[in-house]
Amino acid sequence: MKRKVLNLSLLGSVVPVLAAALITGPAVIAQTPATAQSQAQVDARVDALMKQMTVEEKAGQISQVFALPGMEGALGKQIAGGQLGSVLFLSKAADTNRFQRMAVEQSRLKIPLLFGFDVIHGLHTIFPVPIGMAASWDPVIVEQAQAAAAREARAVGIHWTFAPMVDIARDPRWGRMVEGAGEDPYLGSAMAAAQVRGFQNGALGQPDRVLAGPKHFVGYGAALGGRDYDEVDVSDAQLWNVYLPPFKAAIDAGAENVMAAYMQVNGIPAPGSRWLLNDVLRDKLGFKGFVVNDADGVRNLIAEGFATGPDDAAVRAINAGVGMEMALASPAFRTLPKAIAAGKVDPVRLDEAARRILSVKMRLGLFDKPYVDEAKAERVFADPKTRVLARRAAERAAVLLRNEGGLLPLDAKKLRSMAVVGPLADSATDALGPWVFKENNPPSSSILAGLRNRLKGVRISYTQGVPRAVRAVASPFAGLAKAPTDLTDSKVGIPEAVAAANAADVTIMVLGENQDMIGESASRASLALPGEQQALLDAVVATGKPVVIVLLNGRPLDLGGTKAQAILDAWYPGSEAGAAVANLLLGDVAPGGKLPFTWPANVGHVPLIYSHLNSHQPNNATKRYWDQPGPVAWPYGYGLSYTSFAYSNLKVDRETVAPGQPIEVSVDLRNTGARAADEVAQLYIHQRSGTASRPVRELKGFQRVTLKPGETRRLSFQLRPEDLRYWNSATHDWVADEAVFDVAVGGDSRVPFRTTFNVAADR
Ligand code: NOJ
Repeated sequence: MKRKVLNLSLLGSVVPVLAAALITGPAVIAQTPATAQSQAQVDARVDALMKQMTVEEKAGQISQVFALPGMEGALGKQIAGGQLGSVLFLSKAADTNRFQRMAVEQSRLKIPLLFGFDVIHGLHTIFPVPIGMAASWDPVIVEQAQAAAAREARAVGIHWTFAPMVDIARDPRWGRMVEGAGEDPYLGSAMAAAQVRGFQNGALGQPDRVLAGPKHFVGYGAALGGRDYDEVDVSDAQLWNVYLPPFKAAIDAGAENVMAAYMQVNGIPAPGSRWLLNDVLRDKLGFKGFVVNDADGVRNLIAEGFATGPDDAAVRAINAGVGMEMALASPAFRTLPKAIAAGKVDPVRLDEAARRILSVKMRLGLFDKPYVDEAKAERVFADPKTRVLARRAAERAAVLLRNEGGLLPLDAKKLRSMAVVGPLADSATDALGPWVFKENNPPSSSILAGLRNRLKGVRISYTQGVPRAVRAVASPFAGLAKAPTDLTDSKVGIPEAVAAANAADVTIMVLGENQDMIGESASRASLALPGEQQALLDAVVATGKPVVIVLLNGRPLDLGGTKAQAILDAWYPGSEAGAAVANLLLGDVAPGGKLPFTWPANVGHVPLIYSHLNSHQPNNATKRYWDQPGPVAWPYGYGLSYTSFAYSNLKVDRETVAPGQPIEVSVDLRNTGARAADEVAQLYIHQRSGTASRPVRELKGFQRVTLKPGETRRLSFQLRPEDLRYWNSATHDWVADEAVFDVAVGGDSRVPFRTTFNVAADR
């Protein structure tokens, strides 16, 4: 529920890894130590409170509802009556303070409320959408961006963000691909950990940080047909090797909350699955925090054909391990006292859940400082450093997909005229992307505004060309302010756009999906450019004049085989869209992002991933469609630059390692072009044989580096033992096979394997 304004040797021995249920992922940075209060002090304060609480108050403590307009009166009574422990969707300091007063001044035990909100890619200052941040392959800026978002959130009294979304997304029809890090568990884990560090910064209670809640546990991205909320059928191997690792990384980075997904995982709804929420999440992944269900997910157990009614739903959810119920309006957890009296729920479960929430509140400092300084929020929002960070993030996220004849960067000194065309060109709203809220006054600027601002001396014409597309199926969520759709006949503006292109030195076409065509409940059956954008694009490209496409998108789109010379994927760049895109097009910065997903040529090819298994006809992989050429438009990890790079001298430090030993891979990376720029060096491995077939290649390391023209740098990567392990679905356990591994380091997932190492026991 949200108001939107707007993813060895076949004969060799097997080494099962039984110790910790370690899931492969990037190394995790050590935790910061606990805050001022010791754990013993927190426990003592929680004990003292628990002794005073009634069963009803405990059930209230683990109940959360949406604070939507018009509900304040009713909520006030529930808060004062100790029936709510948390509310979500307040994002103004005056509102959180007002609600907090109801709890702290009017309720019997004066327990402060925990305020939650979807701070996905910024609250006031908007950063690129998460898929764009992932395309930066830069965990440092990802962490910085979420730290800045946390600071803004905390300033208005938000304590908890329902983020990061760490769902692996392999079907781009699924609109929520925009909220994650794409198809790969290794990059996904790095992004998950970086975001948790940014939001939470280790132990709870750090100033200006919020509780992080990775979601949606687990497998949400594997929804059938890419249809949001649809059931998920995921194999044991996929679950452990693909979908769980980012959660493990987020937990290891300190996340104290996890959100259970809505849908059924292999037939059992996630919020009702004790196996998932306890055996997997706690026992195997080591999670120590509390689980919240997704909005109304407890009551939904009825619709999902699992629970008989609200009472049964509450019993099933708490027994499965849901520790806080997020309800639209009426928490089913209110029935828990009755269930406990009837012996359906062990009171220990409720105590355990209530204790966790109280402990979180204490460690976040809410008992000591329940209110926020309303003037400070404005000052935090106005901090120019956050805007600079948002611009840098947008610049680092962009991926250059095509640049024929070196059309980009444009030379500002030579440029006399430019046509800016497209329904999203002057839409600041769309450039922000989904999960942005009008009430947080997000600063924004359209691509057109950014270009006009940057190119004062250049004659810039603007024409929309075709209307902004309207959803065929109405969104269940209210949209942001609508961008203008002033054209009645959908193709009537195309001749004007063609004339503008003919009259200009270069045409920038800003195309893609509106911010409300992507995100929750925004799956698409087609990846085509929406509305009449393809007709517009084809007509403008047919002029033969130079055309640059700037894409606003959160998933791969089908560009109809366009011959446009340059394509820059800007994602939804956020508050600094205009300045960032102008800087990229004019070459003030060079694009250095890389695709976090495989870009299919046609929607019929999905799901399409780089890390597939070989069939018995490995060389026939791209020829299996009768009616379509090779399925990949751009490969995983792909992205061009304004310079060129060369890799050489790939080495492994040992040709043979014993199982469980690390190995170092190193390579020379040289900037062979004429300007400084970034490259993302990607390490891929391939296990040639084993106790299961392994993917044709798997990402196991990456580094984004800046090199001056002519500069060569030796990069080294550590392959840790856990990077060579995988979950074997026959043994239901981690294995590390003895095998020959191919190794490659390069600029995208097509880099040929050039060396090998052997994992073999010393016999
Ligand atoms: C439903 C979404 O699935 C979830 O991601 C979000 O955090 C909640 N609504 C709250 O807005």
